[in-house]
Amino acid sequence: MRVPLLDLSEQYRALSEEIRAATDEVLASQRFILGPKLAEFEKAVATYCGVPHAIGVSSGTDALLAVLMALEIGLGDAVITTAYSFFATGGCIARVGATPVFIDIDPDTYNISAKALTSYIAERCHQADGKLLNENRQTIRALIPVHLFGLCCEMNEMLAVAREHDLLLIEDAAQAIGADYPLDGGSAKAGIMGDAGCFSFYPSKNLGAAGDAGLVVCRNEQFADRLRICRQHGMETRYQHQFIGGNFRLDELQAAILKVKLPHLDRWSAARREAAKFYTNEFRRVGLDKKIKLPVEPYTESGLTNHHIYHQYVIRSPRRDQLRQHLTEREIETAVYYPLALHEQPCFEYLGYKPGDFPEAERAARDSLALPIYPEISREAQQYVLKSIADFFE
Ligand SMILES: Cc1ncc(COP(=O)(O)O)c(C=O)c1O
Repeated sequence: MRVPLLDLSEQYRALSEEIRAATDEVLASQRFILGPKLAEFEKAVATYCGVPHAIGVSSGTDALLAVLMALEIGLGDAVITTAYSFFATGGCIARVGATPVFIDIDPDTYNISAKALTSYIAERCHQADGKLLNENRQTIRALIPVHLFGLCCEMNEMLAVAREHDLLLIEDAAQAIGADYPLDGGSAKAGIMGDAGCFSFYPSKNLGAAGDAGLVVCRNEQFADRLRICRQHGMETRYQHQFIGGNFRLDELQAAILKVKLPHLDRWSAARREAAKFYTNEFRRVGLDKKIKLPVEPYTESGLTNHHIYHQYVIRSPRRDQLRQHLTEREIETAVYYPLALHEQPCFEYLGYKPGDFPEAERAARDSLALPIYPEISREAQQYVLKSIADFFE
């Protein structure tokens, strides 16, 4: 039995008529850039997330880049983020000329460790002239936690750190649109808790476009206006550029498709959660939780049901590579997110980090494995994955 990591064909079949009608409408209108479909989609996401402003952009990467550019973060600045994420998180910080400062992760959640973050600030940073400076006398301007695999970071702690040290808080919510977090006794959606939240609609994301697409959400109206200008090369009045931005626009075709898909997102995320629950219960039932580490759901006690949306279902084993090979031989597709921690990437050698600097991120890069998960995955396919993993450990 062949089990893909992700199969979007059923999702498309169910919505194809609606999607074609929406794209036909755009083609008939011949309005492709900054038109009504984008405005409708932005409004729908803002309502869905419970935030006043949503600004569509060309990708999740450009969401991060546009936010950093609009905030004028650059040379002489440093931005704190996790050591374990997709490259874009660290790459965008470096692209604006700032220095990425990596922090180790919590091995249970794969997210930035609040404990490691506070220790870094206490031990390696100091306040001067109302600014937080690192050991290289760079000004730490912002903190970018990443809600990896569909689970929010410890945002109460991130908010406390940002408040205490006057840092901008930018959520990389590329993998977590719709995930709930227990904030201050209530709940908030991923992306709306900080100064800006960045989403990716890369086709394999829980809400995926038919190409590249992204979006920023924020509460501050002036900042939203600045982002809208930033995505047009910093141009408010035609051919007059107030500041340097880029071509970060989300086009009408992608917006039209995403608008059709958005109302289904919660149902898809619930189906992913059901599939994850099935894996977890079965792994436990047959005692495989003693051999592999299963994903955790740290916010269960809060009563929120949608707090992990399982963009990925990631297990851990010290024998990861052999297990992966075994599953490949059985035609089960898996993935490694990510084989190198960010400080281990060759392009970040200049930052001077050494092996062992972030042991948890390095370990996660060595032993984590993403199993097939998507809303329509059949229990039969999951049983086959479970049986194949059981056979490996026999
Ligand atoms: C955590 C994270 N940040 C940023 C991005 C960048 O998004 P995009 O691929 O849409 O540029 C991704 C996408 O994979 C991601 O997973």
